[in-house]
Amino acid sequence: MVKLIEKSGDRTSDDQLFLKSLTALLEPSQQHMLVRISTLANTASLLASYLDRINWVGFYVRSNIDGEDLLLLGPFWGNPACTRIPVGKGVCGRCCIAKETQLVEDVTKFSGHITCDTASKSELVVPIFVADEVVGVLDIDSPHTSRFSKEDARFIEEVARIIALHW
Ligand code: SME
Repeated sequence: MVKLIEKSGDRTSDDQLFLKSLTALLEPSQQHMLVRISTLANTASLLASYLDRINWVGFYVRSNIDGEDLLLLGPFWGNPACTRIPVGKGVCGRCCIAKETQLVEDVTKFSGHITCDTASKSELVVPIFVADEVVGVLDIDSPHTSRFSKEDARFIEEVARIIALHW
């Protein structure tokens, strides 16, 4: 059984414990698509139990489908979401192009934001890199404005780095 993180209240040590648990959860053969799906599903679930004040957490995986470079909905926790996001569109697509984390304090002020759930008020999107290429993004929504801090962004970037290890 995978143990959920019991928070001590100390942010730094809790985050470290989370990253350690995530690393232990990874299976060696992530290159196998189905194994990767399992890993992403468990990671979304683990994050959902760890983070407070969120309403959606999940992955979009970069794919070329019928000649289109897009982000395809991967494993997630939360309400059903848009299946395809063209690279360049929305916060997720922008993250792909900019190749950097997008911390959106108020989604109504982000031009081109794609609304999957009207409850979402702020959003954090972190790129997953393999050899300098963005192969997917880790997206988190909150029903509160300004939910995510720079510290949250650094932590989620660490999560993305661990996920990328066996991509
Ligand atoms: N808001 C995202 C779309 C994905 S959902 O938030 C799950 C965007 O603008 O790319």
